[in-house]
Amino acid sequence: MKSLYLLSAIAALLPFTLAWLPHEAGITNLEGRDLFQTQLVNETESDPAKRWLPNKTPIRGVNLGSQFIIEPWMASTEWSSMGCGSSKSEFDCVTLLGQESADAAFANHWNSWITQSDIKKMASYSLNTIRIPLGYWIFEGIKYDSEHFPEGALNYLGDIVEWAADEGFYIVLNLHGAPFAQDAKQPFTGQYIPSISDSNPAFYQTSQYNRAYWFLGNLTHLVHTDNRYRNVGMIEVINEPIGSNDLTDSMRREYYPNAYATIRNVESSLGVSSNRALHIQMMDNAWGSGDPTQYLSNNWEAAYDDHNYIGFSPVSVVQADYLQAACNPRGGNWPLIVGEWSMVVANSAWPPQANVQFYKDFFARQARTYEKQLGWIYWTWKTDLNDPRWDYSAAVAAGIIPKNLDSMDANPC
Ligand SMILES: *[C@@H]1O[C@H](CO)[C@@H](O)[C@H](O)[C@H]1NC(C)=O
Ligand SMILES: *[C@@H]1O[C@H](CO)[C@@H](O)[C@H](O)[C@H]1NC(C)=O
Repeated sequence: MKSLYLLSAIAALLPFTLAWLPHEAGITNLEGRDLFQTQLVNETESDPAKRWLPNKTPIRGVNLGSQFIIEPWMASTEWSSMGCGSSKSEFDCVTLLGQESADAAFANHWNSWITQSDIKKMASYSLNTIRIPLGYWIFEGIKYDSEHFPEGALNYLGDIVEWAADEGFYIVLNLHGAPFAQDAKQPFTGQYIPSISDSNPAFYQTSQYNRAYWFLGNLTHLVHTDNRYRNVGMIEVINEPIGSNDLTDSMRREYYPNAYATIRNVESSLGVSSNRALHIQMMDNAWGSGDPTQYLSNNWEAAYDDHNYIGFSPVSVVQADYLQAACNPRGGNWPLIVGEWSMVVANSAWPPQANVQFYKDFFARQARTYEKQLGWIYWTWKTDLNDPRWDYSAAVAAGIIPKNLDSMDANPC
């Protein structure tokens, strides 16, 4: 997730495709979803498909935000208890603490931010999917000696995906923090680099794409060889690149086809059968970095991701307008998951305690709208903000999100 200030600045620049409707893209929603799942789930008794999506049920998920890349704005108590002080990113905190102390502080964090009891609670809330943001440095061989990141996270990731598999979750892993950072001043990348301009982050060059392929190759290998990863069905190759410019053109032209090929090549070297192939996800056209499919010669089992923060879009701060915006589908690629969204509203208008019915409607309308595509993944499960508009578990506790998601109004729009 982007920090609030910059996200609103960027949202204002994004093309806002409110006019798009699914039938205009040549698909009808439910048929499209069934088609997708039929392609994916090619199960026989002797060769059960591992890479399933929830059959006939939309994706309903939460992000594990701040588990493997801490964003201080949403985990401020955690950040200060780790001794990170006013440092702005993981890189800065590790520089401040030194490697050894940082590794101890982060191990404590990984062990306690998302626990097995959180995963069980998510399942009891009728969720079926988790998305886990990762930094490239989780494979420690990829980072340069000059790069300061915590070490030792991989075992904790293994625990989480295993707990999630035990509960039957579908799992999306994503490259959230790319080498040299895909956005220079967004700590969601693990780095905060004030000397680099917003339009010129350093990820977008061949030398850094190469390191991202290593990440994807190592992750694909792990997913297909370590049984704890058995429910991982999708890898997203990059989270939230910057808005369309020459750099993102190079990303779509060079990085996307090679990232796709990297994952498929590892699969073919391992002899992975087609019904176990991973979905490979890219940010969709509506995100604003350009059409991800433009230079793809092969998009078999590709998938797309839209992030839709209505509170940062140019919607007037009027409840009726928010509820209307929540009913407008976005996205320009198929199949699509809305992989980040929330109930945040501009200027923190409408305190949740006094507006429970509004937030219930706002949630259900967004959820049902996204369910006309493949479904949704909320940002995020847990925060230190004590604000149900960001924090799924707090929103359930506040009676805004129902524990049984099937109990939502089926047609709130
Ligand atoms: C894993 O990363 C290392 C660099 O640490 C790289 O040399 C290797 O090729 C990568 N493996 C795969 C399968 O991509
Ligand atoms: C599914 O299995 C059928 C029959 O074995 C095969 O012809 C088809 O190519 C498979 N489809 C996919 C997407 O793997």
